[in-house]
Amino acid sequence: MTEPLLRLSGITKSFGKVTVADDLSLSVQAGEALGIVGPNGAGKSSLFGMISGDLRPDRGKVWFAGREITGAPPHARTRAGIGRTYQVPRPFSHLTVFENVLVCGHQGAGLAGRQAWAHAMDVLDRTGLAALANTPAGRLTLLQRKRLELARALGTAPRLLLLDEVAGGLTEPEVHELVEVVSRLHAEGLGVVWIEHVVHALVSTVGRMICLAGGDVVADGEPMRVLADPKVRELYLGAGPETSAAEEGP
Ligand SMILES: Nc1ncnc2c1ncn2[C@@H]1O[C@H](COP(=O)(O)OP(=O)(O)OP(=O)(O)O)[C@@H](O)[C@H]1O
Ligand SMILES: [Mg+2]
Repeated sequence: MTEPLLRLSGITKSFGKVTVADDLSLSVQAGEALGIVGPNGAGKSSLFGMISGDLRPDRGKVWFAGREITGAPPHARTRAGIGRTYQVPRPFSHLTVFENVLVCGHQGAGLAGRQAWAHAMDVLDRTGLAALANTPAGRLTLLQRKRLELARALGTAPRLLLLDEVAGGLTEPEVHELVEVVSRLHAEGLGVVWIEHVVHALVSTVGRMICLAGGDVVADGEPMRVLADPKVRELYLGAGPETSAAEEGP
């Protein structure tokens, strides 16, 4: 098997008495699309923090593209090719949509001049934001803010895209549009790790799914099989509104 694009090994992280990762190990291959489900507070966003460098694990190691990045700062990881969105969108509200993406290309991908402009416009086209290029980010609707969050992550020209609940709060047609955008990016070779409570969006997009609970991976495999797993149903789906995807299981 080839070296995975991302590898976490023996990751442990606690906030006081709350353990969000307990000797967790996980690999993602280049170009793979992985979905992550799990109960609220399971540590899903914290896991992204340890991949993107916002959080430091107490123990364990993280590798990306063959290099250990456990202690690397977030900007170095962005440059290495890890792009992420935040569960709560974090645009520069006073900058326009175009400027927000342009900044990410400058800072995250090291682009300059005409190349940076062309890249930002391409990202806006792909994410359906081109018509809003000159709108200040602070004036966007929820869907538009979610798209901008995705566009800002893409602006950094990632090899691996980490999506944290980008479908939450959207209408069904909006979720469908988002699934199309992410699926197209994945089809072009981008690695995607997508945390989502809108389970059917994941099922439409990813080839593999994990369920996180109690600080570890409790199920890992083909999405419909993971959703049909009794442990997953008990820990997550049993209590949630999104049981229909598992009901339709094989
Ligand atoms: N910086 C922090 N300091 C203290 N506690 C934190 C911090 N970040 C997260 N936590 C706690 O760690 C636990 C896991 O949080 P996390 O945000 O990773 O969960 P999650 O799986 O993303 O949940 P959700 O599905 O609700 O987004 C929660 O109990 C949360 O309150
Ligand atoms: Mg979260």
